[in-house]
Amino acid sequence: MGRQITVRDIRAMKQSGEKIPMVTAYDYTTAYQADQAGIPLLLVGDSLGMVVLGYDSTIPVTIEDMVHHTKAVVRGAKRAHVVSDLPFMSYQVSEEIALSNAARLLQEGGAHSVKLEGGERIASTVDRIVGCGIPVMGHLGLTPQSIHGLSGYHAQGRVAQEATQMIRDARALEDAGAYAVVLELVPDSLAGVISRELSIPTIGIGAGALCDGQVQVVHDMLGLYTQFMPKHAKRFAHLGDDMTSAFRSFIDEVKEGLFPTEKESVEMDPEVLRSVTASLPSR
Ligand code: KIV
Repeated sequence: MGRQITVRDIRAMKQSGEKIPMVTAYDYTTAYQADQAGIPLLLVGDSLGMVVLGYDSTIPVTIEDMVHHTKAVVRGAKRAHVVSDLPFMSYQVSEEIALSNAARLLQEGGAHSVKLEGGERIASTVDRIVGCGIPVMGHLGLTPQSIHGLSGYHAQGRVAQEATQMIRDARALEDAGAYAVVLELVPDSLAGVISRELSIPTIGIGAGALCDGQVQVVHDMLGLYTQFMPKHAKRFAHLGDDMTSAFRSFIDEVKEGLFPTEKESVEMDPEVLRSVTASLPSR
């Protein structure tokens, strides 16, 4: 498929049983590489607050941060569908504020859809945004923007009341017009029930193999963010180690005068240089 992937294509993948891979991207180069590799869905996640900006949660991320990073990702994504996170408090205060922030991610950032956290309580907001022609991805289970209310990064939906509520939330998002739902840190079996219940795709992170797709934070899967490794992440590369060893080699070669060599240097006609130095006034 040479053209840009649409939410219709994403939904069709579920119908045909084709699993949906999604990764986060926060900059042009990563988006370009993931896009070239064939990733159909790129998420400009507010996880950028932690892995790019160095905060200890997603709470400080602003809509300006999201617009800025979304622009870069969209420039790198020739084919992938780009979904951008509405950050903390950019959609909870009122539906009007939610609409105008969702519009900013599309108009200024160039995103193709937006993602927000929450279920039944946020369903009418989802309905309003979708009604304006902006596709919405939901996010249930561990919702990092509510980290203080959830008292930490724990699995969600293990007890009956939470599991029942999550199924209700998922149905409410589908009814409100969401085109997909992220399930984060949810027991595999519950994620399987939700995936069967919904006609829209579920994209899991720490939610097992029964989801219709899988998302990974790119810094985790590339081994770039080494301070913390969530249980649900798998390292497909060790770029953090590669970076450290590259920096060390650079330090050594600079100190030992091994870099740069002629190959990395610019030549000049020695005659021209001789005439320049010969004509220099003495100091
Ligand atoms: O912000 C993010 O990276 C996310 C994923 C964990 C799904 O929301």
